[in-house]
Amino acid sequence: MNPMKEAEQKALPATRQQVGFALVPAGVLTSEWLNAYALVPRRAFLPDDIWPFDMRTGQTVHVSRAVDGRRWQEYADADVPIVTQWDDGGHQGPQPGRLPTSSASMPSVVFRMLDLLTVDEGSRVLEIGTGTGWNAALLAHRAGDDNVVSVEVDAAVAGRARGALDRFGALVEVVHGDGARGAPGHAPFDRTVATCGVREIPFAWVARTRPLGVIVAPWGAGFTGEDALVRLQVHKGGEIAQGGFVGPVEFMKLRAHRAAPIDHEAYVPLLDLPAVEESAEAASEIASGGRFGPLVFALGLRVPDCTFSAAEERDGAQPLWFYSRSDRSWACVFLREGRSARVWQHGPRRLWDEVRAGHAWWCAQGRPEWSRFGLTVGAAGEYVWLDEPGRPV
Ligand SMILES: C[S@@+](CC[C@H](N)C(=O)[O-])C[C@H]1O[C@@H](n2cnc3c(N)ncnc32)[C@H](O)[C@@H]1O
Repeated sequence: MNPMKEAEQKALPATRQQVGFALVPAGVLTSEWLNAYALVPRRAFLPDDIWPFDMRTGQTVHVSRAVDGRRWQEYADADVPIVTQWDDGGHQGPQPGRLPTSSASMPSVVFRMLDLLTVDEGSRVLEIGTGTGWNAALLAHRAGDDNVVSVEVDAAVAGRARGALDRFGALVEVVHGDGARGAPGHAPFDRTVATCGVREIPFAWVARTRPLGVIVAPWGAGFTGEDALVRLQVHKGGEIAQGGFVGPVEFMKLRAHRAAPIDHEAYVPLLDLPAVEESAEAASEIASGGRFGPLVFALGLRVPDCTFSAAEERDGAQPLWFYSRSDRSWACVFLREGRSARVWQHGPRRLWDEVRAGHAWWCAQGRPEWSRFGLTVGAAGEYVWLDEPGRPV
């Protein structure tokens, strides 16, 4: 019998069953997590007003349970991320706000991370970013009552999660505070999982995770808004944690690691510089590699303090913008049908030269995917390496 069917003696709603059937063969929902998937539904943790991302239209939509309960339930069970708070609670009303600040992650991402975390019954688990409380309840289902501590920085979000966890009957300790510090009063943990993206792994997570324990987190250099999942193991002596990157993922960031929005006008008052024509090779590979490609991940490592954004196509040209975060240098590349590149760069940093050198480095290393990169975190800081810790990037 199909393992999914076995776990579901009680029939699941159609959407949730379909999602489950798709996640099992994709290798995302493993046998260890089937019962939790079947018995801990995401909808038990969602508020009445939700903003799911509609995959068909590429839009974030507002759905009210009171107005359209059936649609609410379909989204709740679907494999889509659902925003549950905008602008740190400062935004009211049905329209999406400026910045999504709390959400229930999409089930395929949740179970991919849980699988990487390798949780057993009795594991002591720390979660950073309680959000709705769904992931904490899944963890509690697997690790057992009173074994999960979840830290949430937003008081209102933490309060709602506590209520949902209580109603569901999951015994999770929700701590209101800054998860970057771990949960000092509750350490040590066997597993630490962050459900918000970080620019660097706080050493407190290493210090509060037992030797040989595991840390899973979305990590990104800030070149784009996307992150890569990293799975670290704490060394025997507990002084460092080290491990490999797994693949791309997108998460809202730990509050203190949010990037300030780029004010384009402040960087580029007027585009009145002469342009330089050059080969389109690097620019077209960056444009076609997409936001989730390994090239932008590698560029983030090789071109620090730089943010990249691909603007809308205009007059048959794709503009690629690069903004320095360490000063007001910028570069712009207009890529015409992938054949020619017209380049402007301004400021003390020659940003396009840096990006082109980063692209050449990535090509020379054999165009590595995430799995060839790894991260070492110690009390003095962290560094990314290629293939082995002795080869820092
Ligand atoms: C993607 S949501 C978490 C999803 C959640 N695990 C769930 O199952 O619904 C990210 C959460 O991280 C929280 N967060 C951001 N910075 C934080 C910090 N410094 N400490 C703790 N939580 C933080 C946000 O408030 C938000 O609720």
